[in-house]
Amino acid sequence: MCGIMGCVGGDAVQKVYRGLVKLEYRGYDSAGISVLSYGNICTIKKAGMVSQLERELTSLNGTAAIGHTRWATHGSPSDLNAHPHASGKFSVVHNGIIENYSSIKEELIAEGYSFKSETDSEIVVHLLNKYYNGDFLMAVKNTVQRLKGTFALCILCADCNLIAVARSRNPIIIGRGKGCFYASSDMPALAGDAESAYVLKDGQIAVIGEDRAEVYGFTLEKQQAEFVPVAASQTDTQLCGYPHYMAKEINEIPAAVKNTLSAFGKDCENALKGLYCGVNRIILTGCGTAYHSAMTGAYVMEEVLGVPARAEIASELRSRGCVMGGDTLLIAVSQSGETADTVEAARYARERGAKVVAVTNVAYSALNCVADVVVPVRAGTEVCVAATKSYCGQIAALLAVAGALSGKRIDGLEDIASACAQVLKCKYVHALARLFTQSSGVYFIGRGVDYPVALEGSLKLKEVSYIPGEGYPAGELKHGTLALIDENTLSVAIITDRALAAKTTASVQQIRSRGGKTAVIASQSCISKELEKDAQVCIKLPDCPKYLSPIISVIPLQYAAYLAAVICGKNPDKPRNLAKSVTVE
Ligand code: M6R
Repeated sequence: MCGIMGCVGGDAVQKVYRGLVKLEYRGYDSAGISVLSYGNICTIKKAGMVSQLERELTSLNGTAAIGHTRWATHGSPSDLNAHPHASGKFSVVHNGIIENYSSIKEELIAEGYSFKSETDSEIVVHLLNKYYNGDFLMAVKNTVQRLKGTFALCILCADCNLIAVARSRNPIIIGRGKGCFYASSDMPALAGDAESAYVLKDGQIAVIGEDRAEVYGFTLEKQQAEFVPVAASQTDTQLCGYPHYMAKEINEIPAAVKNTLSAFGKDCENALKGLYCGVNRIILTGCGTAYHSAMTGAYVMEEVLGVPARAEIASELRSRGCVMGGDTLLIAVSQSGETADTVEAARYARERGAKVVAVTNVAYSALNCVADVVVPVRAGTEVCVAATKSYCGQIAALLAVAGALSGKRIDGLEDIASACAQVLKCKYVHALARLFTQSSGVYFIGRGVDYPVALEGSLKLKEVSYIPGEGYPAGELKHGTLALIDENTLSVAIITDRALAAKTTASVQQIRSRGGKTAVIASQSCISKELEKDAQVCIKLPDCPKYLSPIISVIPLQYAAYLAAVICGKNPDKPRNLAKSVTVE
């Protein structure tokens, strides 16, 4: 959520621009760059995507630059609200929300500072000017001490060839390159440029120059920073011949699942077993897609472990004051590990004495720092805003956790990657996508482990194609939503559990009797003549053990959503109004 890039040294503007392009998945409603040029700060910023800046880049020159790609929180996506916010001696880019901005703004206006934007962020640049007496670091210290809320800041000062960064609950990383230092919201933007990196901790300020980086606490006590090598795995962030990242990442599902299962080693298994002692209930949490994989995890764990397990939406877990204590295992699932609602839910659990497990795709994330045990997802960098391969990786990781805690390996887990590869070749996915685009609304139904998949199919379609719809438990449709069914709607039934197939087939018949069109995604052994006969599309999946089916049944839904977005002329990688890492609550 908002991408920040900074560089001191060499061709700073080009490096910042390249970094912003890689960070665009974090927000893409407006963008801007400031550069220090012979003691002056020059800024270009515009509504729209980072590429809007390209034509004007040649007008910017200098050895220290900061840049930003925005996901608006305060103020519409306009040229004026775009970051950086430059005034007087400083220019600032910000990721996060400053909660006490309005009282500080009033104070600054009363002191004669004038504001150009509607953002919460602009107060930072005026505070810096207010506290500046020739000492950059002191001005930064006095400024961050005034701020309440969440922030990652990157600050340029006209008087020195340095950049200051500060972190409070929003990610920021500093990177060491050849003859330069970087600041970035995320590691992939540094890959190929920085050789090593340090992830700032909450409450730290760093000052970077061409040849040095110093790290301090918010009260300016000097702190150690251990730089770790940056993996130069650049293919992750390249399209490699695919038209969109979403298509590429769906095709990477077999590798994501395989790598996740191989990364689940004995150490992880033993740590989980140790943590599980004294636990008598499990709560899984996450947001969006990660919540759907958490639901699958809860269904499986309750059955396999015989312990109450349920999934909670991370934001609601705290809003409703979920009761938990030392007997609770909280499993927080997040691709990025930076989703504010999920990280805060994990902190909430810790404060109440619960044991916390993080299931994340990003090793250096904030969530991992809160957790007692980290279970790695190895899906590789996911660039598309819509989560696909990370979802399958998360479920594989959760199945491995269920296996470890129960002491029994989940049946068939070793064959799941090849089943995914087989499903990627399924027929009729294009036909399903066309049906999506011809429908006024699409309803996804499933029972048991197929229900979270129905929710995920619906989320995927909505977020990339903007076609409205819902995911429903198949048994629940008749209690209200059936009223929406007519000949313009499509209902997609997901059926992979033989024990529940007849019941879901009956729900399909209830839809057909009311004139609704139906499509079916089902395991071979769940397909009856009755089910197939009147289906507009019937996608057949290979049979696989029940707990594994959510990994494969989602694939045609993800791919059909992708194709529907393309048919509708939408960019599936960057859906409107969204961003990948949601670092605000
Ligand atoms: O990084 P996270 O997994 O914590 O992100 C959670 C959600 O924001 C995310 O899954 C979102 O729902 C996806 N864009 C859906 O495709």
